[in-house]
Amino acid sequence: MTPAIDLRSDTVTTPTPAMRRAMADAPVGDDVYGEDPTVRALEEEAAARFGRAAAVFTPSGIMATLVLMKTLTTPGQEVICEADAHVVAYEEGTVAQHAGVQFRTVPGDRGRLDAARVRAALRPAAFPYTRLGAISVEETTNRWGGTVHGLTTLRSLRALADECGVPLHGDGARLCNALVATGDDPVEVGRTFTAFSICLSKGLGAPVGSLAIGDEDVIAEARGWRRRLGGAMRQVGILAAAGRHALDHHVTRLAEDHAHAQLLAERIAAGAPGSVDPREVVTNIVYVDTGDRPAGEVVATLAAQGIAVGAMGPSLLRLVTHLDVDADDCERAARALVAAVTTPAR
Ligand SMILES: Cc1ncc(COP(=O)(O)O)c(C=O)c1O
Repeated sequence: MTPAIDLRSDTVTTPTPAMRRAMADAPVGDDVYGEDPTVRALEEEAAARFGRAAAVFTPSGIMATLVLMKTLTTPGQEVICEADAHVVAYEEGTVAQHAGVQFRTVPGDRGRLDAARVRAALRPAAFPYTRLGAISVEETTNRWGGTVHGLTTLRSLRALADECGVPLHGDGARLCNALVATGDDPVEVGRTFTAFSICLSKGLGAPVGSLAIGDEDVIAEARGWRRRLGGAMRQVGILAAAGRHALDHHVTRLAEDHAHAQLLAERIAAGAPGSVDPREVVTNIVYVDTGDRPAGEVVATLAAQGIAVGAMGPSLLRLVTHLDVDADDCERAARALVAAVTTPAR
């Protein structure tokens, strides 16, 4: 049964009536022949939004990252990323398995890499050391509560990548959240990456899809990898239409999700002091320390009240705000969570 208030992830949204209408009305064609006008429009608009030449629509964020890694790296190289990056924490070795590279993980500051930390981890660029193939950065950080690197840090990471002669890859599953939080210019941020992905089916509320974005030659090769990996699709304009609608109508509203996350954090911090620091909540993800109460117990208590949250550790919960939760839902969830965390175990 669908929970009444689902805060497990921003992937749980369902398409709005307006999005469904856009999908139903979309002109379509065979995208493997490059003949789906809605897919082409989505790819062109997404690339232009970030000041880049090209984009390719992929079925998932994992595939967007994989086709870029296949394009940007050579098997046997290593890719530096943050210790808790989604690519290492959640993707079951996809990139290692299919692109043949190893990840070298570097702990960041609440999930954020910076040039000094990456520089300290560099190996000599000489035999017999494993060669660096790319630096990968996640914006925003999933496992660190939606923290944001921002333009200045991304620029310094790109400068370091250039110095090393390697690409800067961006896992921008929630890049639009970062842009809304910082007010940074999407074109300036888009130019910091050699190539990057954005996801349409997280905070943006589309049912499917990501885009890999970059220069013409990189995206042409990524498109080839998408086909070889079985990710090329046919009359998929009905899905691209949802993505176009999301980019047109659901980006600026991410500020509401951020305000709702802040509301959750403030209410929970007030009722269960020490469980969360609202100052650390800058986008749409809230991590809550359940103290002595096992996270699994709190999840079950809330589930019985129709409220779904995720357990991320023995005493760690994750709550993510999105299109399908409002301020009242957050007030109710915060009250229930505070009661569950502060009620002594029987
Ligand atoms: C930061 C980040 N990158 C990549 C992904 C993978 O996206 P998908 O589930 O569309 O493959 C996720 C999914 O939650 C994510 O949070």
